[in-house]
Amino acid sequence: MEDDVSRFLVQMLKEARDRLAQVNDLAMLEKARLYYFGKKDGQLVALLKDMRSYDVKARQLLNQTKTELLQLFVNKRAALEEKALQDKLRQQSIDVSLLGRDTEVGRWHLITQQYRRLNRILAHLGFTIFEGPEIEDEFHNFTALNMPKHHPARSVHDTFYLNARPTVKQTPYLLRTHTSTIQIRFMKDNPPPFRVASIGRVYRRDSDLTHTPMFHQLEGLWIDEKVSFADLKGLLQVLLQSFFEWKKLDVRIRPTYFPFTEPSAEVDIQCQKCVGKSCRLCGYSGWIEVLGCGMVHPNVLDKMEIDKEKYTGVAFGIGIERLALLHHGLDDLRHLFENDWRFLGQFT
Ligand code: DAH
Repeated sequence: MEDDVSRFLVQMLKEARDRLAQVNDLAMLEKARLYYFGKKDGQLVALLKDMRSYDVKARQLLNQTKTELLQLFVNKRAALEEKALQDKLRQQSIDVSLLGRDTEVGRWHLITQQYRRLNRILAHLGFTIFEGPEIEDEFHNFTALNMPKHHPARSVHDTFYLNARPTVKQTPYLLRTHTSTIQIRFMKDNPPPFRVASIGRVYRRDSDLTHTPMFHQLEGLWIDEKVSFADLKGLLQVLLQSFFEWKKLDVRIRPTYFPFTEPSAEVDIQCQKCVGKSCRLCGYSGWIEVLGCGMVHPNVLDKMEIDKEKYTGVAFGIGIERLALLHHGLDDLRHLFENDWRFLGQFT
C-alpha cells in the first residue's frame, strides 16, 4: 500500500510538471488546478479524502506532495503573470528605431528675413523704426511730397485708387505707392532732430519679371542741423556694406530727379557678380542701381513747418525685393509671392 501510494504520488508529480509545462495562459492553469485540487473530483483531493486509511509514512508523503504541487502552481502562476506583463509592455513600448512622421519647421519669408536684417542695421545706425498705413490719401502720398497734381504717378494707370471716381467732397483714398508717406506722417508730429525709418508694403499697377503689384520699400529720413549730402553718402555706404556683408563695397551716386528731394540722386553698388568689371547681370556696366535718395526738398520742409534755415534733411528709398534679388542672385521676382515651399524653403 505504502509503495503503491508513493509510486502513484511520484508519478503524479512528474505528470503535473509535464502538464504545467504545456500551460501557457491563466485559463489553462485553472483547468489544471481543478484537475488536481477540484473539490469534486480533483485527483489529489480524492487522495486526501482517503487519508485516514493511510499509514503515517503515506500521509507524510501525501502532505509533501500536496505542498510541492501547490508550489508548482504558485510558480507557474507567477511565471504566467510575468509573461503577460512583459507582453503588455512590449505592445505599449515605442519603437524608437521607427522613423517618425516629419513635421516641417516654419521659416520667415525671404522678404521678412531681409526686413528684419535691415531693421537691425538701421537701429545700429540710430534710426527709430516707424510704421504708417497702407491705405493713404493723396495728401500724404503725393501733395505733401511736392508731387504736383499733374504728376504721372497720380494717374489711375499707376496707382490703385480705392474710390475710383471720388466726388468733389470725397477724399480720394489709395494704396500707397511708396513708403515716402511716412516722412510726412512722422514730420507732422515730431520736431527735428531725428532719424526715422520704415519698411512696408507698397502698391503699383505693374507686373512683369521685375515688378509685382505689391512690393516692399524701405524709407529713411534724417533731419538735423547741417546734415549734408556727404553724410547721406556715408550713411548709405555703411548701410549697403552691412546689408551685403561686403566691407569694401563701393557705391556710386548719379544725379536724377525726384519731386521731394533736391538735389536727387540714384545710388549704384558695384556688381557683386563681376565685382565692378562687366557681366550680364549688371548690363556690362559693373554697377547696379539699388536706391533713390536726396536732400529733402525745402517745399516739403515748409509744408511740415520745419525751419529750413536751421535744419536740413536727407532721405532715401530702397526696394526690398530688389535687394533680396541681388543678395541671393534671383532672376524672377514673382517667385517670391507664389508661395511655393520648394522655392521659399531654400532661404534660411
Ligand atoms: N519714393 C521713391 C520711389 O518710390 C523712392 C525715393 C527716392 C525715396 C528718393 C526717397 C528719396 O526718400 O529721397 O521711387
